[in-house]
Amino acid sequence: MSQNTEKLQIIEREIRKCEKCSLCKTALQAVPGEGSSTAKVVFIGEAPGATEDKTGRPFVGRAGNLLEKLLEKINLSREEVWIGNIIKHRPPKNRDPLPEEIKACRGYLENQLAVIKPSLIVTLGRFAMNHFYPEGKITKDHGKLIKLHNFNVFPVYHPAAALRNRSFAEALAKDFLNIPNVLTELSKNEKSTNNTMMAKPLL
Ligand code: URA
Repeated sequence: MSQNTEKLQIIEREIRKCEKCSLCKTALQAVPGEGSSTAKVVFIGEAPGATEDKTGRPFVGRAGNLLEKLLEKINLSREEVWIGNIIKHRPPKNRDPLPEEIKACRGYLENQLAVIKPSLIVTLGRFAMNHFYPEGKITKDHGKLIKLHNFNVFPVYHPAAALRNRSFAEALAKDFLNIPNVLTELSKNEKSTNNTMMAKPLL
């Protein structure tokens, strides 16, 4: 097992016994997240829904089916990416997470991302986008690459919103098709930064 996988498993064990907020009392189980521990791209949603709560896995209900179809269109599988949420326990009746719940859960995702070190974080929906980029507006900022000091964030509409609204579905599909281009651009930049760093001692 790789060191990254081991580190993620340690965080997962902490999440599974978390009692930092009251959501653990109403949820059936925690949903820590899953996928490649060295993923170049991660997908972050809001919070588990009913199917995720039953299975302990992220995005396995209707929104998850749509996410998988969108991933297939850009030749990515669930195994190649990492999928998680900002909130690890299902809020009752899928209500919006409360600020104190988001705050209590914050450290887990931070630690997971510190292990995975993705090139790109695709945020699914407004909550996930505002977690990284509080001033963002999903209607204006979806499909734009936001370069923050520690992360590259690419906000898109939530698949559940796309299932309810045709124009969100079209925007989501279009933004998804751009993800490979964004990743190529980022890897070019990463390579040129690495070359610059390697060239320095020779100057
Ligand atoms: N919606 C989310 O935001 N996350 C899930 O895991 C499932 C549905």
